[in-house]
Amino acid sequence: SQSPVTVAVTGAAGQIGYSLLFRIASGAMLGPSTPVRLRLLEITPALGAAQGVAMELDDCAFPLLSGIDISDDPAVAFDGAQVALLVGSRPRTKGMERGDLLSANGAIFTGQGKALNDHAADDLKVLVVGNPANTNALIAMNNAPDVPRERFTAMTRLDHNRALAQLSAKVAAPVTDIRHMTIWGNHSATQYPDLFHAEVGGRVAAEVVDDQQWLEGTFIPTVQKRGAAIIEARGSSSAASAASAAVDHVRDWVHGTPADDWTSMAVPSDGSYGVPEGLISSFPVTCADGAWSIVQDLELDEFSRARVDASVAELVEERDAVQGMGLLG
Ligand code: NAI
Repeated sequence: SQSPVTVAVTGAAGQIGYSLLFRIASGAMLGPSTPVRLRLLEITPALGAAQGVAMELDDCAFPLLSGIDISDDPAVAFDGAQVALLVGSRPRTKGMERGDLLSANGAIFTGQGKALNDHAADDLKVLVVGNPANTNALIAMNNAPDVPRERFTAMTRLDHNRALAQLSAKVAAPVTDIRHMTIWGNHSATQYPDLFHAEVGGRVAAEVVDDQQWLEGTFIPTVQKRGAAIIEARGSSSAASAASAAVDHVRDWVHGTPADDWTSMAVPSDGSYGVPEGLISSFPVTCADGAWSIVQDLELDEFSRARVDASVAELVEERDAVQGMGLLG
């Protein structure tokens, strides 16, 4: 039988971890014939809680789960990691400025980048979920000079899936009829969910919708602010849906996107669509043979261009801030 794939998950005792780990161990992420070995990273005070999650994972008797290790040391947790899901981060607390958030996370993601550089497997793939996800991924990437840059990605798949769900409800078509959805830019309220390249049953989604007022006044802000709406309704932030999106992101990266579709991933820019090289920004991507590539040559009209530019400008600001803090090496 196949040898296990080593999957490291940070923030393992958190809300997302509580959903994500069970999906990974069940085979939803890497497929029904790939055993997994989990390596969980938590901060020291949460090691007991992580142990409890590991006990529950044991109690599921998942046929594909070949072992679980828990540590508060990134050098140990990332040892031999082939997939690293960086979920744990420092949440924004009351009174915290944006700069405080960037620097608190900067300390986490510089250390984790270095540990991945020194201890992970050669075929490492990294997905950053912890916010601010794009900039945390940028910091980790820049602190891991020996890891090829294209192995660092950040998650906009939840935004992508939210956009699919909103469009599906609006046009009363199943999500399986929708192709070519794209989230551009930052995983933040400036992200741009694009209905001008998405298609419903082969027709341009914006034309099927035929309601610019809904597109601008409802669709875009609903997707951009969905995270806040979930907190308002549920009393805590999206967790199961975030975990499901992480599973989708890694599954498509490893196993490929469908031949007639693409997905959204935040990846290091090569300058495509005028996004400064090296920024981790969301693009339409296809995946094949374990590698992603940015879909080329889409036309961006003035409306779309302005929104992509606004989100990318925010990423440039975040990059400049963490560069100024000396976090990019
Ligand atoms: P949570 O607060 O329930 O769990 C986070 C866990 O990370 C905690 O157990 C904490 O002890 C741990 N942690 C903190 N620092 C760590 C470190 N240095 N190393 C290892 N573990 C560490 O948070 P939740 O709900 O699980 O969310 C996690 C992150 O994911 C948050 O930053 C959240 O904003 C982000 N998120 C991102 C989404 C996206 O679409 N990109 C969607 C939803 C959440």
